[in-house]
Amino acid sequence: MTEPTVPAAARDAGETGGQRSGDVLLRVEDLRKHFPLKTQGLIRRPSAPVKAVDGISFDLDAGETLGLVGESGCGKSTAGRTVLQLLEPTSGKITYRGEDVTGAKGERLRGLRSDMQMVFQDPYGSLNPRHTIGTIIGAPFIIQKAKTEKGVRAEVQSLMERVGLNPEHYNRYPHEFSGGQRQRIGIARAVALRPKLIVCDEPVSALDVSIQAQVVNLLEDLQSEFNLAYIFVAHDLSVVRHISDRVAVMYLGKIMELADRDVLYSKPMHPYTHSLMSAVPVPDPKKENKRNRILLTGDLPSPINPPSGCVFHTRCPRYRTVLSDTDKARCTGEVPQLEPKATGHLAACHFPEVRADVAAAEDTVAPTQ
Ligand SMILES: Nc1ncnc2c1ncn2[C@@H]1O[C@H](COP(=O)(O)OP(=O)(O)OP(=O)(O)O)[C@@H](O)[C@H]1O
Ligand SMILES: [Mg+2]
Repeated sequence: MTEPTVPAAARDAGETGGQRSGDVLLRVEDLRKHFPLKTQGLIRRPSAPVKAVDGISFDLDAGETLGLVGESGCGKSTAGRTVLQLLEPTSGKITYRGEDVTGAKGERLRGLRSDMQMVFQDPYGSLNPRHTIGTIIGAPFIIQKAKTEKGVRAEVQSLMERVGLNPEHYNRYPHEFSGGQRQRIGIARAVALRPKLIVCDEPVSALDVSIQAQVVNLLEDLQSEFNLAYIFVAHDLSVVRHISDRVAVMYLGKIMELADRDVLYSKPMHPYTHSLMSAVPVPDPKKENKRNRILLTGDLPSPINPPSGCVFHTRCPRYRTVLSDTDKARCTGEVPQLEPKATGHLAACHFPEVRADVAAAEDTVAPTQ
């Protein structure tokens, strides 16, 4: 069975989900990352790979934020790392500023590295505890042999100041900082070479709620200052709603729905998105009581052996309760394409349904400082 992606015609017509500036920075086409499993036993039989990312396509404009959501294990981190080519893609194409950069090596990859960076969830784990903050934030200049106007130290100190750290703490070590400050260090290191794209992988998930808002605000300020594009991976739908221009919902290595942030949150179409949205608690008890909860039954299937047809059909409430046998046969037999169902609203579902009743109320989601 062939697995279709966003049709080129649809992309060319700008039907890639939401209002766009048209200045495409990154284009990802049918990207896959399969992890081979170790051979088992004495007889060396290769076993089926883990299909962590299984054919995703999207565009990202300069200065834009694409949120990536979905439950644990759906392939968000792998998608982010493969886009940056920290992991080698199994197949698919990555185009950066109009140039095919898939499988770039050597000098070319080094050039890309300075344009594309990553911010990790666990700032402590990603900072070498034996290096001073000055060394950590200054490393990209040394590795990339980048020229600095005032010298590395002055450059690092002005970066520290920019991200809200005291430049006098240049010689301190990571353990001397709080979680939020460590994330600021990770962000300073990421923006050091003035990249164009940063994959933020759960950048605030490990932080206290009050600190989360400050770090999100810092990311937003840096974005407008440097015209940065973000791929923002997170579990927390409210943080994603706050920061994203468009949002992609992933399930078992595939994008199920992709739309402008407001459209996705107010008119979700894919039954999987419905269940994700309906799980976000609403603080107002009156609204909470009126809301429809859509609970998924069954476990997340294994990405080694995903279900046939639509990978979501085994847990899909619509499949279970509404669809006729003929319709069900389509869900089990035919992979749905991620395609426009309304202007700028893509969904990979044979039988999508707009459900405004499951959407979280707007006033519950924006983090404030
Ligand atoms: N190096 C690896 N080798 C084998 N399998 C892997 C590897 N890295 C990830 N996987 C598998 O790929 C799938 C996707 O993992 P990934 O970490 O990308 O998910 P995620 O959406 O980021 O999850 P989380 O929300 O928990 O961070 C999972 O089934 C995971 O076990
Ligand atoms: Mg992850």
